[in-house]
This record gives sequence, C-alpha cells and structure tokens, in this order.
Amino acid sequence: MSENERPPRREPGELRSARWYSAGGMRAFAHRQRMQQMGFRRDEFMGRPVIAIVNTWSDLSPCHAHLRERAEAVKRGILRAGGFPVELPAMSLGEVMVKPTTMLYRNFLAMEVEELLRQHPIDGAVLLGGCDKTTPGLVMGAISMNIPAIYCPAGPMLNGRWRGTKVGAGTHTRKYWDDYRAGHLSEAEMVEIEGISTRSPGTCNTMGTASTMTSIADALGLMLPGASSIPAMDAAHPRMASACGERIVEMVWSDVKPLDILTAGSVRNALHVDAALGGSTNAAVHLVAIARRAGLAISLEDFDEAARQTPVLANIFPAGDALMEDFFFAGGLTGLMSRIADRLDLDAMTVAGLSWREVLAKARVDDDTVIRPLDRPVVDRPAIAVLRGNLAPDGAVIKPSAASDHLLTHRGRAVVFDSHAELNARIDDPDLAIDETSVLVLRGAGPVGAPGMPEWGALPLPKRLLDRGIRDLVRISDARMSGTHYGTCVLHVAPESHVGGPLALVQTGDEILLDVPNRRLELLVSDEELARRRAGWQPPPQRFSRGYGVIVERHITQADKGCDFDFLEAGAAIPEPEIF
Ligand code: FES
Ligand code: MG
Repeated sequence: MSENERPPRREPGELRSARWYSAGGMRAFAHRQRMQQMGFRRDEFMGRPVIAIVNTWSDLSPCHAHLRERAEAVKRGILRAGGFPVELPAMSLGEVMVKPTTMLYRNFLAMEVEELLRQHPIDGAVLLGGCDKTTPGLVMGAISMNIPAIYCPAGPMLNGRWRGTKVGAGTHTRKYWDDYRAGHLSEAEMVEIEGISTRSPGTCNTMGTASTMTSIADALGLMLPGASSIPAMDAAHPRMASACGERIVEMVWSDVKPLDILTAGSVRNALHVDAALGGSTNAAVHLVAIARRAGLAISLEDFDEAARQTPVLANIFPAGDALMEDFFFAGGLTGLMSRIADRLDLDAMTVAGLSWREVLAKARVDDDTVIRPLDRPVVDRPAIAVLRGNLAPDGAVIKPSAASDHLLTHRGRAVVFDSHAELNARIDDPDLAIDETSVLVLRGAGPVGAPGMPEWGALPLPKRLLDRGIRDLVRISDARMSGTHYGTCVLHVAPESHVGGPLALVQTGDEILLDVPNRRLELLVSDEELARRRAGWQPPPQRFSRGYGVIVERHITQADKGCDFDFLEAGAAIPEPEIF
C-alpha cells in the first residue's frame, strides 16, 4: 500500500471501543461506571484507541521473565500517542516446562487471543511473546480477529560461554548431555554448565524455533522491522517496546489490520528469510498454519523451493557457530534481508507503515562472518528439504544443514519404536540389534498420536554407539524436532502413524531408503506386503473422552496442513459481539 492509498483516519466515534463506552443507554453507562470504579477518568479511555497488551508473562516462562516490565514500556508509548493501554494476560507457553509439549496448546493460545480481543472493548493489540509456539499462537489469533495488531518480541537471551566456548541454549544442552553420557564430562562439570548456559531472560539465543518464528513474524511485516533481533536485555529492547505502543495507536486511527499487511509476497519473504536463517523445521508447520489463517495458499514444496534458491547465510547455531547477540551486532534481520533483497517482494508492507524497500534502503551488514554474503554461505546444503515417497505420501521434512553429509543418501534397516516411552526404555538395551547403518523409527508421535507432535524427532542414540564415537544415525518419525537440535532426522512424516499413515506399517528389519538429493523417502517393501499389513492394522482407540484433548483428537490437521484446528482456518469473519 503506498502513501496515497492509505486508509483515511477514523473518527473517535468509529472506534470499536466506542460501542462499549460511547453508545447511549444503560449498558454504556455501566461500562463507564466500571471503568471509573478502577480509577480511570472518562477522558482517559473515551474517544481514544484502547490498546490491549496481550502479555504471555508467567513465573514458569523463563524466556518471558522480563515481559511485565516490557508491558510498562509499551504502556508508555501508548499513552504518549494518546491511546489507552490495558494489559490482558494470555496463556504462557514456556517451552521447557509445559508438558507433554507446548505444541498441543498453540491453537489454544490462538483461540484465546482471538476471543480475548473479540470479547473486550479493544481497538488494537500489542502482542508480547517470543518463546517457540507463542509467536504462531499470538499471530494466528490476531490474524483471525483482524484488528490492528503489532508483535513485540521478547528478544533473545544473552550469549552463553563456558570455559572460553560459546554456549547456545538448546543446541549445547543436547551436545553436552551426549558428551556426559559418553563419559567425557563429569557430574560437577554438568552442574557448572547448568548455571551458565542460559544466563538471562529472553528466548533461546540459537536459531531455534523462537528466533526462527520471531524472525518470520518480522519478515511477514508484523513487527517494527528488525525488532526480532534485539537482545531481551539490551536497552534498545524497552525502547522498541515503547515504540510498538506508540505505533499501534496510529495503526488504529488509520485502521491497518493484519490482513492488510499479509500478502502472498510477505509469505514469500518469510520463506526466503527462513531459508537464509537456516531456520527451525518447526517453521514448516507454523508458517503453513499462519498463511492458511490468512487464506494464503502455501505448500511444503514452497519451503523446499525457497531453500534451493536461498542458501543459509546466518552463521548461527545449530547450522553455524555464532549466537543471536552476534547476529544483532552484525546487522540483524534487516541486514540479512538486505543480502537477499532480490528474492523478496519489496513492496510488501510492515506495521511501521514502511515497505521493505524503504526499510532495507537503510539496512547494513557489519560482520560478514555472521551474516554471510550470498557467495559464501554457512553450509553448502539447504536449510530444509521436503521428502516424499511411499513412507510419506503427504510429505516429510529434513534439515540438511544440520544433518551429516554421509547419511544424506542412505539405505538401512529399520529399528522401530511404537512410542516414546518404549524408545526410552529400550534404546540402551544391550540386546537391541543396532549399528551405525540402522535407521531409527519412532511412531505414535504425531499431532493426534502423541498427542501434540512433541519434539521427539532427534531420537537419542544408544550409549554403546556413542561410546564408539558415533554421533548420528538416520532417524525417522512423525514428531517434530527442536530447532536447536541437529542430526539426520526425518520429521513430520504425514500422514502420521496414528491415523494410519504408512509409518504405522514399518517393521523392524525393513529396509528404508533416504535420498535427500532426490527428495525421496521409501520403505523398500512390496506393495502386496504393505497391503497385507494394512489389512491387519487396527486404528488405536480414542484416547480422550473429556477436556481439551477431545478437540485436538477430532479437529487437529496433519503436519503438512499446519496442525491448526480445521474450524479455525480462514473463513468468514465472526460477527462482533452484541452489546446489551
Ligand atoms: Fe523459550 Fe527456547 S525455551 S525460546
Ligand atoms: Mg525450541
């Protein structure tokens, strides 16, 4: 949208909140009365944009530990611009603490955000979040409600360092744990690492799901451009939060809504940014869900295509060796986007009211070792590849940039686990027939089966192979993998085994072919034999008879469709609530 196409400013009487406060009658009287009960004068909230600060702070969300203070900075900006701030708490999905997986509750948060905004006298929203599923949850809810909204990201935590070595959240947790199991680190050293590896509030400082998804929301135009790269504890962070507050008030007056920002072009921008970041495979679920909420068609092959065209340029763990703080100093997301500008839709807009062309004209890169030029990518493999074959008719994904070269084309015999519990119980069993050519298969870990498709996809290796120095095997599952993990892990196999996908038919000893260069994943068993096995397959019994699990079991879509609830995808707008 160019300057002269911008919608005209609205009048105070046209504000959504005016329906609550400024209408005649007893109800409006009662609304104003209750606001006054809280100590607010009429002029503070009437005729002004009422802005919800949707805050996902909680005492069990370490990545969001600073969001109560940040809400105050947002309020400052809102007041300065003549708006009226109200803080609304929303479900806090602290990645590490929430079980069985935050993914189970992403749609719950999305519904909560949509309904919180709908049910209250709210004209616009600032969304505070950042830890993994929080970003898609907040964004999906805001898209469906479609009132002016701006995302204020929590920001990455500060760099970690142990004995001179950079330590990244998540990535090194797994690495050090494997070293410990192999006897290379002592108990005392592990206690030391425990205390230094996550040293400040903020989201994981690696290119995990949090940094991937906040960067994607940024690239979609839903943040003040570049906000996703600002470290949580940098003084620039509260300044950015205050600027979000100031900007959202203007967005309300000019009625700029998420669906005015999101276009096929902004989704394409997000796909290329994801590729250049070497982003988490989780993006292949969340961005699909976000785009579908906005009614924009997107397929797994779009990720594959973008990753073939745009190499990994962000030299950040797990693909590289720097952390988010280094990325910020190197130029951050806008610096990175300036490197791939020829692949982007530069006319796509941002919530700042600027197009990417205007934003990137001022972008710069100050460290080529962290934000690489196009001719010197971090790895010579793409960030994501989409596989198909008789084992994954609706697709599966792998992160070649975090996989082992020698396993990208591999033929080996399956060792099958029916559940995560069985995997943990048997993986170190001395009688388990397994060697470095084996293919570990985990099923029952998908959106319905687990439920919630947990991050179990980087299956642990048997201790006796670790002892021999083996650090990777081909692993296949219908689970997801944390963006901070690495390994030759085939993920998101769709359809999942629980609903009868071919993964359900694999038997220990079957041969499996992984051929990443040709994007193939094949179970080398004859069609006749597979048909015979299918005839004997029994669908697992329904697991939930009450509660939220019932909704998940009935309505969650498969990984290739984004794992949204079918009834929440794009559709007709829901009418405004009647006020009486
Ligand atoms: Fe919150 Fe990694 S645990 S971002
Ligand atoms: Mg994560």
